[in-house]
Amino acid sequence: MEYSDHFTYRQDELHAEDCSVADLAAKYGTPLYVYSRSSLEGAFREYDDNLRIPHRICYAVKANSSLAVLQLMASLGAGFDIVSVGELARVIQAGGDPGRVVYSGVGKREDEIRFALEQGIYCFNVESAPELERISQVASSMGATAPVAVRVNPNVDPKTHPYISTGLKKNKFGVPVEEAYELYRRAGELPGIRVTGIDCHIGSQMTTTGPLMEALETLVTMAGRLKADHPHLDHLDIGGGLGINYRDENCVSAAAYMESLNSRLASLGLTVLVEPGRSLVGNAGILVTRVEYVKKGAETDFAVVDAGMNDMIRPALYEAWMAIAPVRRGAAPVRHCSVVGPICESGDFLGLDRELEVKAGDLLVQFSAGAYGFSMSSNYNSRPRAAEVMVYGDQEQLIRSRETLDDLWRHEILLSGVSAG
Ligand code: LLP
Repeated sequence: MEYSDHFTYRQDELHAEDCSVADLAAKYGTPLYVYSRSSLEGAFREYDDNLRIPHRICYAVKANSSLAVLQLMASLGAGFDIVSVGELARVIQAGGDPGRVVYSGVGKREDEIRFALEQGIYCFNVESAPELERISQVASSMGATAPVAVRVNPNVDPKTHPYISTGLKKNKFGVPVEEAYELYRRAGELPGIRVTGIDCHIGSQMTTTGPLMEALETLVTMAGRLKADHPHLDHLDIGGGLGINYRDENCVSAAAYMESLNSRLASLGLTVLVEPGRSLVGNAGILVTRVEYVKKGAETDFAVVDAGMNDMIRPALYEAWMAIAPVRRGAAPVRHCSVVGPICESGDFLGLDRELEVKAGDLLVQFSAGAYGFSMSSNYNSRPRAAEVMVYGDQEQLIRSRETLDDLWRHEILLSGVSAG
């Protein structure tokens, strides 16, 4: 199984571009995230080159917020979609331009709004009436003007996992269309606010463009109605959400999606913003792990590996199916087994009921791990978080060193006046 042109087997040895994955694991240890720079660049260009109307690709930082990834995106000309001050600070730390940042999320704190205004971000994607009032207050108190778009919830079913649907009426995100018009009216009269856009994001891991194009129609209609009253309206932010192939989804390509935007949006005269996350980084990354034990179970055998749900939570959280394969093919007998981590939870698995070549000591790889992998990782069970490496041709570079035990309690403080008994 090969998920990208950049992770391929050569003489039965998995390579990340021209680097042997086994060599990387030997050098940096496991669990290890490995990213392909060429794959990241290719995915960005697929969006950027095929959208031929004025646009900005605003990479959704949450998908993979490692500095080197952000730095690479910035170098390619990306903007960024952020949801916290932490993400904005990361973008800046990585050399990204705050002037190309859109700020989404339902819970923006006052200090976060202030910081974003100080940094001069491109636009706030406003998710509620009270948020709009708060942005107006903060901006006015600073003598600033906040560029805003209202995030519209078009009530479109993205036909994806319920945890990653965001554009349905019942979801906490955005505001329904009628309320959005009301918010735009209010925005027009509030001090410290300038309406510059319309925003929407309906969900993630969509395999077809149907729901995206349906939501787009709502935005186009709104743009037509809002233009007259909001002379600074200059962009349409259509969110992210395009899926990737984890298995056999047969996902529509970014190129085809962008192509369908060209014709539909050309005459609008607005800059189009897209906020892809997963489809830029997902298949550019793998998680490499070592089999500690093969354990006989009552119903199925277990390959107990050194990566757990703290490293990659998607299977546990969404029952996400992600491909797993040996780093070296043909080195072990095929077994029916579940690939599980060392964490004390039954939900701690990378994959259930697989047919895998596996024996203790071997390396396995989980594909499609570049998105929502490291960025959702934790220290649960007091496990230091994994290292990350970026490869480019036959070059490799460590982009995050493995956490040490000291890192685990770096911010903790023992009680004073209590001594060991
Ligand atoms: N824009 C906004 C406002 C978002 O909330 C998201 C993702 C994106 C863009 C990027 O969406 P993408 O292109 O990656 O689908 N942890 C889940 C996915 C959560 C997505 C949250 N929002 C997973 O591992 O499947």
